[in-house]
Amino acid sequence: MSVVHLFEAAAGTYDQARRRLVPCFDDFYGTAVEVSAPVLRTALAEGRTPEVLDLGAGTGLLSSLVGAAVPGARITLLDAAPAMLEIAARHLTAQGVPHAVEVADLADPLPTARYDAVVTALAVHHLDDAGKRALYQRIYDVLRSGGVFVNAEQVAGPTPELDRRYAEVWLAQITALGSDRAEIDAAHLRMAYDRPAPVAAQCAWLTEAGFTDVDCYFKSWRFAVFAGHRPPH
Ligand SMILES: C[S@@+](CC[C@H](N)C(=O)[O-])C[C@H]1O[C@@H](n2cnc3c(N)ncnc32)[C@H](O)[C@@H]1O
Repeated sequence: MSVVHLFEAAAGTYDQARRRLVPCFDDFYGTAVEVSAPVLRTALAEGRTPEVLDLGAGTGLLSSLVGAAVPGARITLLDAAPAMLEIAARHLTAQGVPHAVEVADLADPLPTARYDAVVTALAVHHLDDAGKRALYQRIYDVLRSGGVFVNAEQVAGPTPELDRRYAEVWLAQITALGSDRAEIDAAHLRMAYDRPAPVAAQCAWLTEAGFTDVDCYFKSWRFAVFAGHRPPH
C-alpha cells in the first residue's frame, strides 16, 4: 500500500476533514493564493492566459482558490490518484475554472508547457529529500521568466524536540476542532509515509535551484508557505 493508494481510497471523504486536519486552513491556503496571484494578474495584464500547474492537486482545494482569486487562469492539476482528480475536475467544472488533469507521479518528468505559477499544497513531503530537490529544479525549468513557485507544505521541525512539539500541538488542535479517533488514526496512517523537511533547508534548495526572492511567508507550527521566483530575463 502506498500513500497514493490511501488518498485514492479516502478521496470521497477527503474534503470534509480538511478544516479540522489543517487547523490554520484559511491563512495557509490564503497565503499561497496571495503569493501566486500577482504573477497571474501580470500575465492577464499582458493579454495572456495565466497558466498554473498544481502538483499533488488532490481534490483541487488550492486550484479552486487560485481559480477564484484570478478568474481567467487556466490550471493543470497533476496527481497520481485518479479518484482525487475526478473530484477536483467536478469542483472546477462547477466553478467554471478552465482546467486539465494529468495522472502522473511527482517523480515523473513534468508536463512540457511553460507556467506562470507552479503551486503545490501538502504533497512534496511525500518525496524524500533528494526527490524534493530534484523536483524543485524541474519546477524552475518549467516556469516562465518572472514565474513563481509556491509550496504550502507540512514541514519538519528544525530539531527533533521542535518536531515533537509540532506533532503534540497539531494533535491538540485537531482534537479541539472535533477530529475523532477514526479520523486521527487515518491521518496517522497516511502520515507514516511522510518525509517532511525543515523550512530553512527547503528554502536553501530553492535558492540552489536558481530561484530568487525566496521566503517563508507563513508558518504555524508544522504548516508553512514558502516560495521563490524565477528571475525575469
Ligand atoms: C494531502 S493531499 C493534498 C491535496 C491538495 N493539494 C490539498 O491541498 O488538499 C496529497 C496529495 O498528493 C498526492 N501524492 C502523494 N504522493 C504523490 C506522488 N508521488 N506523485 C503524485 N501525487 C502524489 C496524493 O495522491 C494526494 O492527492
